Amino acid sequence: MRKVDENKIEEILKELTLDEKLDMIHGNAFFHTKGVERLGIPPLYTSDGPMGVRYEYHDANWVPVGLSDDYVTYLPSNTALAATWNRELAYETGKVLGEEARGRGKDVILGPGINIKRGPLCGRNFEYMSEDPKLISELTVPFIKGVQESDVAACVKHFAANSQETDRLMVDTIVDERTLQEIYFPGFKAAVREAGSYTIMGAYNKLNGEHCCENKELLDKVLRSDWEYDGTIISDWGGVHRTKEAAECALDIEMSVTDNFDEYYLANPLKKLIENGEISEETVNKKIRNILRLMLRLKMIGDDADKRAAGSFNTPEHREAALKTAQEGITLLKNKTLPLSRKKLYGKRIAVIGQNGAKIHSNGGGSAEIKALFEISPLLGLKMGLGGNTKVEYAGGYYIPMPPQQKFATSWQETSLMSKEELKEFCAKNGTLESGETKEQIEERTRKLKAEALKLAEECDEVIFVGGLNHDFDVEGGDRKDMKLPYNQDELILELLERKPDMTVVIFAGSPVDMHRWAGKVSNLVYMPYSGIRGGEALAGILLGDVNPSGKLPETFPKCYEDTPMFRIGEFGTEGRVEFKDGLKVGYRYYDDEGIEPEFCFGHGLSYTSFEYGDITANVIKSAEGTQTVQLSMSITNTGAVIGKETVQVYVADKECSVYRPKKELKDFAKLELKPGETRTVSFKLGEDAFSFYSVSNKAFVTEPGEFEILIGSSSRDIRKSVVVTL
Ligand code: BGC
Repeated sequence: MRKVDENKIEEILKELTLDEKLDMIHGNAFFHTKGVERLGIPPLYTSDGPMGVRYEYHDANWVPVGLSDDYVTYLPSNTALAATWNRELAYETGKVLGEEARGRGKDVILGPGINIKRGPLCGRNFEYMSEDPKLISELTVPFIKGVQESDVAACVKHFAANSQETDRLMVDTIVDERTLQEIYFPGFKAAVREAGSYTIMGAYNKLNGEHCCENKELLDKVLRSDWEYDGTIISDWGGVHRTKEAAECALDIEMSVTDNFDEYYLANPLKKLIENGEISEETVNKKIRNILRLMLRLKMIGDDADKRAAGSFNTPEHREAALKTAQEGITLLKNKTLPLSRKKLYGKRIAVIGQNGAKIHSNGGGSAEIKALFEISPLLGLKMGLGGNTKVEYAGGYYIPMPPQQKFATSWQETSLMSKEELKEFCAKNGTLESGETKEQIEERTRKLKAEALKLAEECDEVIFVGGLNHDFDVEGGDRKDMKLPYNQDELILELLERKPDMTVVIFAGSPVDMHRWAGKVSNLVYMPYSGIRGGEALAGILLGDVNPSGKLPETFPKCYEDTPMFRIGEFGTEGRVEFKDGLKVGYRYYDDEGIEPEFCFGHGLSYTSFEYGDITANVIKSAEGTQTVQLSMSITNTGAVIGKETVQVYVADKECSVYRPKKELKDFAKLELKPGETRTVSFKLGEDAFSFYSVSNKAFVTEPGEFEILIGSSSRDIRKSVVVTL
């Protein structure tokens, strides 16, 4: 992390009155604190979120300002980014986000979201990257470095174990120590220690009995002491519940969603406790030091203040970077007849069927919503890609019932902290409008759209179904009830397949959906995570073969919810208390262990070319200090006819251990581009940490001597070569 002049901090601190200090440690508007004008200390401006800089809200009113000056580049979601398995693209995406945030005058961008995708149903999964801590860590570090190059702070969130939305403010998340250390902490640890994230956001939930934003074990012990963090800890919006506890733990800034700023816990209530002598002013000074350090790092104050990066937004380069990431994140799950040939389609008709063919997603999802400068839908992308010689026609295919309309002009965020009772009262007072659609009307509309789509499918030469979820499901504040595709899409897909067995199915989603009723029957299947401003263009490029797909699933797609650890071991989505009984058995660790065949495994993704893996050369190198490193190398050859990218994945299996260990765990990966016939050598260096586990009795990661199997493959279940090493 950027070193700053600590004397300067003490100098400024001496000048500040208690009131001024208190103004700096809590929100004075929904998205900023108060500055100290007489000392030239500006307010700290924050904004969401991971997919671009959010539009402007009024300071104390959840109504968008509504001007035309806050359109931005819509970036591929964190899920899309993770599916690239590409560290350079993570850096590029972070860089774009940092430049846009700075360009919009922000100091802190509230991302990346890196919570573990523990199961398929979490509403915010699309904002998160993966089920695997190694993949998350490897992408988070360059992402944050990219952001912070523009003198903007990343705010890595939500620390910690915030993997469900149900009862998100109060739920007590029970996770054992080893699981925290091996699964839920590594991404945050890497963000702090390797990337030097200037800020971090405390999560809403309780962790093992204490709210994360008031949790001494989490914030003081793990973050400040174990990881030596000297950045700024910001609460999630409304994540603080008690004054003394929040003041006396390592949290620095309290933010919330209500407009009674002076009554925030770290405002007047804290002042009272200080004046009573119950809390020392030094408690506040500690927080101020961290905030001033942040401001110096960001060149908001101090001698460098005139050297701060200006940022930029909506540049052609940003849109280009978003396109590249989208192209590498879209994942080909099954293939028989792709890519489509322009030549064969000359003078023909293509049907794009399904609402996601034409729908815009950038403006949804909760705090990740943004005002995109534009968003290219698949339909538009295909028309742009094919030009006038092929007729691209559209049918919605399924009906999306209108959501109940709120009469009051407000954002969902205003009501997001209310209990069910409060919400009821609020609605009764302010009035709500139901959608006004009856069940019969919905059924009739569904029937009509389906009939139109089936007719179009019969008439056209080629069919591309584009469905899946949208931000009514992939959304903050609620979890999905099941993994099923909504709006009767399964039936529609099955009927379309009867007419066009070789059609292509494209599924939009931020998390796995149940495809098992038709996945075995479909020829071509593409997974489309929310892919940003040029997502539809990227998809068209892949379908038409201009781009060779190289995305790999960053999480397991189980066949159905009944196969998941949540269902079999529990618990998920409970109110009040949720125990992560699955422990280390998250994602592929669970499916491998239980021998459950998923629909598509972790790391799976096809290419239009093929790759051959050569033999592994493995050497164990011992340093003078006695630490061991395993050096691996192997050759990879593109054996197909087109240029392509392969992600080579390295897993480690402990052959024998005194404690339970998952069957195998991802420890490294490399993405390389190869021309047809080209061979390249890829090398990996695995340090001892790649072989270690967290020992609860030693309170440390330890490596037990013995044999380890190293498995290298194209996915977690397509292992091409393996070798045993002894440490
Ligand atoms: C979300 C955060 C977000 C904050 C500010 C909260 O509801 O959990 O991720 O950054 O609001 O909008």
